[in-house]
Amino acid sequence: MLKAKGENLLLTVNDIIISYNDSGTGEIPIIFIHGFPFDKSSWQPQFEFLNKYNRVITYDIRGFGRSTCGTKEISIANFADDLIDFMEQLELNTAIVCGLSMGGYILLNAVNRFPDKFAAIILSDTQCIADSNETIEKRQQSISSISSGGIKEFTESFLKNVFIEDTLNKNLKIVDKTRSIILATAVDSLTSTLNAIANREETCSSLKKITIPTLIICGKEDKITPPLQAKLLKDSITNSTLCIIENAAHLSNLEKSEAYNTELAKFISNLQL
Ligand code: MLT
Repeated sequence: MLKAKGENLLLTVNDIIISYNDSGTGEIPIIFIHGFPFDKSSWQPQFEFLNKYNRVITYDIRGFGRSTCGTKEISIANFADDLIDFMEQLELNTAIVCGLSMGGYILLNAVNRFPDKFAAIILSDTQCIADSNETIEKRQQSISSISSGGIKEFTESFLKNVFIEDTLNKNLKIVDKTRSIILATAVDSLTSTLNAIANREETCSSLKKITIPTLIICGKEDKITPPLQAKLLKDSITNSTLCIIENAAHLSNLEKSEAYNTELAKFISNLQL
């Protein structure tokens, strides 16, 4: 049955209800997976730009935005299973999928296990390595601090890490919007997802198997998943292109949305699908 188009649509996927936006037309849609701890509105500049030319779908992952959290364990593999079931419920045999940061961890997990579901991928501000012991330790400290009421402090230090200084000082609209998304997220979702990220497996050893067209995008000033990690992805994925976005950090799609959209449009229009 033909599914409705619009914003904040609802679909039952596995044991949850997913909230998603679906707009534009085209045989092979582009699906966007947001990072931690954001929601589908963090893709608004891409959604509004690309839906003039393509079918574009953004969705809230389990426990974020308007999607429910269900009863299954929160893990990167379960987020990837949700993506695959979401595509099945939408009757999509294949899609171009873009994941930013944790969205990229989810995407790489899914590509590994369900390679036939993807026509092309975009790996944005992400990496294939697992967490070091030091990073796991930091995540555990964040979990304790959030659980004991420190969500505001966590949010403020997180914002400082994901944007360049110029954005923090001058582009308050983006910063305030991102802050309100984080503060609206349930504490349980934040802590269990931090735990899921800390427990994720590395995906570097399987990058050689990826043969579909791949665009790798990274903000030049990204401190969380730096350009060095993007370069590692580029060197291991045969059919890949690397694009570094100037004057942008971890949320390069928001800080420099025009440059980011131009790269996306170029990549998509060159695909021979
Ligand atoms: C994200 O943006 O998804 C997270 O910062 C990823 C991470 O902390 O590894």
